[in-house]
This record gives sequence, structure tokens and C-alpha cells, in this order.
Amino acid sequence: MSTLAAPVETALGPILELRGIHAGYHGIEVVSGVDLSVLPGEIYALVGPNGAGKSTTVAVAACLHAPTAGDVLLGGRVVNGARPQDLCHLGVCLVPEGRSVFPNLSVHENLWLATHAGVALDEIESRAYGRFPVLGTRRAQLAGTLSGGEQQMLALARAVAVNPAVLLVDELSMGLAPVIIAELYGFIREIASAGVTVVLVEQFARTVLGLADRAAVMSNGKIVGAGRPDEVEGVLEAAYLGAL
Ligand SMILES: Nc1ncnc2c1ncn2[C@@H]1O[C@H](COP(=O)(O)OP(=O)(O)OP(=O)(O)O)[C@@H](O)[C@H]1O
Ligand SMILES: [Mg+2]
Repeated sequence: MSTLAAPVETALGPILELRGIHAGYHGIEVVSGVDLSVLPGEIYALVGPNGAGKSTTVAVAACLHAPTAGDVLLGGRVVNGARPQDLCHLGVCLVPEGRSVFPNLSVHENLWLATHAGVALDEIESRAYGRFPVLGTRRAQLAGTLSGGEQQMLALARAVAVNPAVLLVDELSMGLAPVIIAELYGFIREIASAGVTVVLVEQFARTVLGLADRAAVMSNGKIVGAGRPDEVEGVLEAAYLGAL
């Protein structure tokens, strides 16, 4: 049984907050005192070089990785220690790094697995194929044989099928052609304008900063700059050159 009973209150203040988060693996700290505050309805970018701790940070935010210190707050409530599935029911959904589809299941079956949140398969499929018609033409194809871009479309279609309040997306653009990235980001804009809060984690900052309302730059486990995209431009180069 979940210890989290009430739905997320989003009317006031940040919808998602990390306060003083420390996290690591096998006793080695890789996230060192991260504070993040994401407002309802915004697109928030978390950028930084390889190994900065971005994926670990969003895994903590989704309660997939336990912090060693600090708090995760959702709608102002501390949710530390919640099970990821409980957080998902409260409206936080993570699309992890890599192609987060079931490769040995068809497109249709992947969407069917997203019905656990209570939305009917017909509706999920009509939304997915309406937005990404190529998925409709590949309904019976194994997801593992889709192109990289098609797999990300399917991953996003699965994620929005649970009607999230906060969608965390880790490296959406990884390895994809600019035209596909533009299409996926177009979809991100649409879901954000429909009221979903989106946190985009990207290693390649330039692509995502044009889309974000606010951004944070991470380097060596710490936030080294945060603000509007134009305000963080200044620290980007130093972060990527390893000077921060
Ligand atoms: N499961 C794990 N076990 C041990 N160390 C890990 C694990 N996952 C990540 N790390 C280490 O933690 C550090 C931060 O990794 P993380 O994946 O959070 O960074 P990142 O900013 O997402 O990097 P990238 O841009 O390459 O995705 C790295 O040094 C990495 O090697
Ligand atoms: Mg990562």
C-alpha cells in the first residue's frame, strides 16, 4: 500500500523540488547538494557534460534511486522513499535514458502496457497514431526494430498515455537526426502547452535551451548555473570544458 494518499496539489509554488540532494553508487557520491525547483507548466532543461550526474538526479526525482541526503517534494509534499509506481500514480513519469520501449513487444503491445493508469487502449492508440502516424503504420512491428526516432516517439506516446503532471525525459535527442529532434521537441512543446510540466535532461545543451523556459547546468555533481536559458549561457562553456 502506498503511504501517499492525496493527489498532487499544484496550485501554489513549485510542482517538483529537490532540496539538498546527495546521491551516489556503492558509497561514491556523484550528486552533491543539488537544489532544483520546477514550476507548474514550464519546460525545464537540465544540461551538462557526460557524467555530471544528470541521470542520477532525475532518477532521484522519480524515486527510482534513493538519495543519501536531501528531500524530493511534489506539490510541496516530501515524497522521499515513495515507490516509483506510487509517484507515477501521483503524476510523475520518467522516460529514462536509452530507448525505453519493450523491444520484443509490438508497438500495439507497448501501448497496451500503458493502460495500467486507466486510460483505454483505443484512446491511447488513437492519440499516439494521430500524433505520430508512422507508429500507426507499424502497429504490429516489434518495437526493437523501429528506428531510433520512432522508438522515442513510442516512448513519449507511452509516457503521455498515463496523463502525467510532470514528465521527466532523459536524453530525448541522443543519436537522432536534427529533423527528428525537431519533431520530438515539437511534441514536447504541445504537451507543455497542454499544462504538463516537462523536465528535459540533455547532454547537448544548445538543442534544448531554445525550447526551455528555465534551465540548470550541472557539472561534477553540482548545479553550477540556473536561470533563464540566456542567463546560463555564460557557464555552459566552462562546464563543458570541465572548468567547473
Ligand atoms: N549504476 C551505476 N553504478 C555505478 N556508478 C554509476 C551508475 N550510474 C551512474 N554512475 C556514475 O555516476 C556518475 C554520474 O552519472 P550520471 O549517469 O548521473 O551522469 P549524466 O550526467 O547523466 O551523464 P551522461 O550525460 O553521460 O548521461 C558517473 O560517474 C557514472 O559513472
Ligand atoms: Mg545521463
